[in-house]
Amino acid sequence: MQVHRSRKRVFSGIQPTGDLHLGNYLGAIRHWVRGQGEKENFICIVDLHAITVPQDPEELRASVRRGAAMLLAAGIDPEETTLFVQSHVRAHAEGAWFFNCVTPLGWLHKMTQFKDKSARQGGKQDSIGTGLLTYPVLQAVDILLYDPDEVPVGEDQKQHIELARNVAARFNHQFGEMFVLPEARIAEVGARIMGFDDPTAKMSKSIGGRYHAVGLTDSDQEIEKTIKRAVTDSGNEIAFSDEPEKAGVNNLLTVYRMMTDKSPDECLADFADARGYGDLKKRVAEFVVEGVRPIRERYFELMDDPVELDRLLEIGAARARAVAEPKLLHVKERMGFAVPDALRG
Ligand code: AMP
Ligand code: TRP
Repeated sequence: MQVHRSRKRVFSGIQPTGDLHLGNYLGAIRHWVRGQGEKENFICIVDLHAITVPQDPEELRASVRRGAAMLLAAGIDPEETTLFVQSHVRAHAEGAWFFNCVTPLGWLHKMTQFKDKSARQGGKQDSIGTGLLTYPVLQAVDILLYDPDEVPVGEDQKQHIELARNVAARFNHQFGEMFVLPEARIAEVGARIMGFDDPTAKMSKSIGGRYHAVGLTDSDQEIEKTIKRAVTDSGNEIAFSDEPEKAGVNNLLTVYRMMTDKSPDECLADFADARGYGDLKKRVAEFVVEGVRPIRERYFELMDDPVELDRLLEIGAARARAVAEPKLLHVKERMGFAVPDALRG
């Protein structure tokens, strides 16, 4: 199905749990911020996805606020972007039932995220929640209810977006055209920012090493320390490279490239006179410190005013409901459910 709009519509989601880090910022959030205005953005804090693994209720509630504050601090403009919390829009959870019934089980068993996350929980069939398996179904609902043209995500989400497209095609085939097939937008640069302590592992919220990630609330000193300790190699060549042993230097240069918005050649020219990796780390740290500081400061201001934060999230939820609810009614109608007039907008 095609929808003609004056601006492209973008949908993306982010988990509220764990503190956001430089990988989330460079790989995802910054692209959303830069696309605002030009595109119609929907950004969803996916708290329903968070409970696919065990969560402490109080911590979950707090982390949704922290996630929202961080996205706003990083530049999401609530006027330009519909920023909302997934559980505030009932159509997501409700829609998941209908989508569960249409999505083949075999598709879900192929998902690498399910394999990884269930293995991390010991692979125990009697303790892993079913929601972990159906996670990508809920993600497909998130996306398809909004008929977005594009879904900007990091590389790890490619398989889930592909599944959402397949689910959309299946619905369209079984019940008549009703969903736009969304395109995954994977940034060419920065889709995989690696851990500073281990450049072979993607920077991740769930890897807790002290010097693994630069958190967006880290102090200047913490940022400097993490980058100064970054694992590199025994050589001294500062170059972009795909070779595994150069992964540390490549990661530092990629971060530099993104923080400065320079071309690869300009970056290399900046380090032509560098004396070893110490210089590289020092300059990368300077840019990261300068880039993260205003985000951190704004974040703490926003966290001081929870009433305002909740007000902004309610505005976002109302805008999201206005799109998602009629869409879900349409889906239900096509699938054979009577939709009472009282439920129509
Ligand atoms: P998550 O933290 O897994 O909910 O991810 C939120 C967004 O950030 C998704 O679009 C991810 O693909 C992206 N992301 C997470 N970690 C990284 C990373 N190390 N490098 C680049 N993008 C990332
Ligand atoms: N699964 C995504 C992640 O872990 C988060 C997510 C949930 C999402 N729903 C989405 C991303 C819809 C894009 C579109 O990063």
